[in-house]
Amino acid sequence: MIDPQFIKSHFPVFRHHAGLIYFDNAATTQRPGVVIDKLNDFYSRGNANIHRGLYGLSVNATTNYEAVREKVRDFIGGKTKESVAFTRGTTEAINVVANTYLKPRIGAGDNVVISAMEHHSNLIPWQQLCLQKDAELRIIPVADTGEVVIDAVNDYLDRKTKMLAITHISNTLGTVNPVDKMVDIAHRKKVPVLVDAAQSACFYPLEVASLDCEFLAFSGHKIFGPFGVGVLYTRPDLIEDMLPYNYGGGMITHVGFDESTFMPYPYNLEAGTPQIAEVIGLAEAIDYLRQVDKTEAIDHVSGLAAYFIEELNKIGKSAVIASPKERTGIVSFLLDNIHPHDVATFLAEDNIAVRAGHHCTQPLLEQMGVRATLRASFSIYNTREEIDRMTDKLTEIQRFWS
Ligand SMILES: Cc1ncc(COP(=O)(O)O)c(C=O)c1O
Repeated sequence: MIDPQFIKSHFPVFRHHAGLIYFDNAATTQRPGVVIDKLNDFYSRGNANIHRGLYGLSVNATTNYEAVREKVRDFIGGKTKESVAFTRGTTEAINVVANTYLKPRIGAGDNVVISAMEHHSNLIPWQQLCLQKDAELRIIPVADTGEVVIDAVNDYLDRKTKMLAITHISNTLGTVNPVDKMVDIAHRKKVPVLVDAAQSACFYPLEVASLDCEFLAFSGHKIFGPFGVGVLYTRPDLIEDMLPYNYGGGMITHVGFDESTFMPYPYNLEAGTPQIAEVIGLAEAIDYLRQVDKTEAIDHVSGLAAYFIEELNKIGKSAVIASPKERTGIVSFLLDNIHPHDVATFLAEDNIAVRAGHHCTQPLLEQMGVRATLRASFSIYNTREEIDRMTDKLTEIQRFWS
C-alpha cells in the first residue's frame, strides 16, 4: 500500500511549505530529496562537460550521462539504449519527430491524425507542418464521456495518413487511452504512431517494445525528475531515418568548410552541450520510482480522483468535466458559475494549489463548451484528508458566492 505520509517525507518542498496541499502534479510533480541532492552532487563533485575531456572528471561525467540511456531503456521497456535520445522535454521530442522524421515524408494531400484531447504540444507541431506542406490535420473526436471514440480511429486513417499522434493520458480530463488498441489499428493501415506519454510515464508501464509504437515522448519534470530534460524514444528500425535537427558540436564525425558528416541517432539530435546534470538527475528519479509499486501508485491516484469526485458531487452546483471509464488522478471541474481563476485564488489562500485555465487544450475545452476549468491532479504524496480540506473550502466558496 502507498503510504503518502512516508512518501511526502522524501520531498523537501513539504518541509519548507508546511501545510501545502499540492494538487498540480499534472503541470509538474515535486522532486524527492535524492534528485535534488544528485543535481547538487553533480555540480559540487562531478562537474565537467561530456564527450570531450580526457581527464577524470569529464570521463566520469560522460560515463554517468551515457549510463542514463540504459536506465531509460529499461524504464520504458525498450530493446536498445541507442533508441533513447535526450531532449528538453516532451514538447521538443514531438517537434523533433515532426521536423526530422515526418517533414521529408509528407506532402500535399497527405494527412496527420491526432485526437481532440491532445495537449497543444502534440497538436501545434503537426498543425504547422500540415500547413507548410498543404496536408490535412485530422481530429478524432472525443465523446462527452471524455473518451476518444475508438470506433472512429480506423475511419480517420487511410493510405495518405503519415502519422497517428496520440496522448496516452489526457492532461485535462484524466482519460487513460487504450494506446495498445490504437497502435494496432494504425499498424494495420501501416501508419506510424507517436505516443505522448507526458502524463503516463510516471506510473503507467510503457513497455515500448511490446507496444511497438514508432515514437514515444515524455518529460523528466512530470516523473519527479529535473526540469529541462525529456526523452524521445525511436523504434530501433527507424533510427537511421532520424536526421539532425540542430547542428553544432558533439554530433559530428567530421566537419569541413564545405560539408560535414554526422553521428547516428541519438547523438545526432544532441547538438551542443546537453543538459548533463538534468539527465543524471533523471536517472535518480527513475531509481526513486523503481521503489514505488506502479499498480499501487495507479490505484492510489485514481482512488483519490474517485474520492474527490464523490465528495465534489455533494457540493451544490459543481460539475466534473468528463466521466471516462478509465481515469488517472486528474479531475477537471467547475464550481457553480464561479470563474475557475477566482476559485483557484480562494483555494490558494488556504495553501491549496490547483490549476485553472485551459490546460493547453483550448480546442478540447471549446468543443466541450467551456473556456476554462479547475484541475486537481494527484500524486502518491496526496491524501484523502487533503481532499477533505479542499472540498470543505469549495463548499465555503460556493456558499459565499451563491
Ligand atoms: C499530455 C501532455 N503532453 C505534452 C506536454 C508538454 O510537456 P512539456 O511542457 O514538459 O514539454 C504536457 C505538459 O503538461 C502534457 O500534459
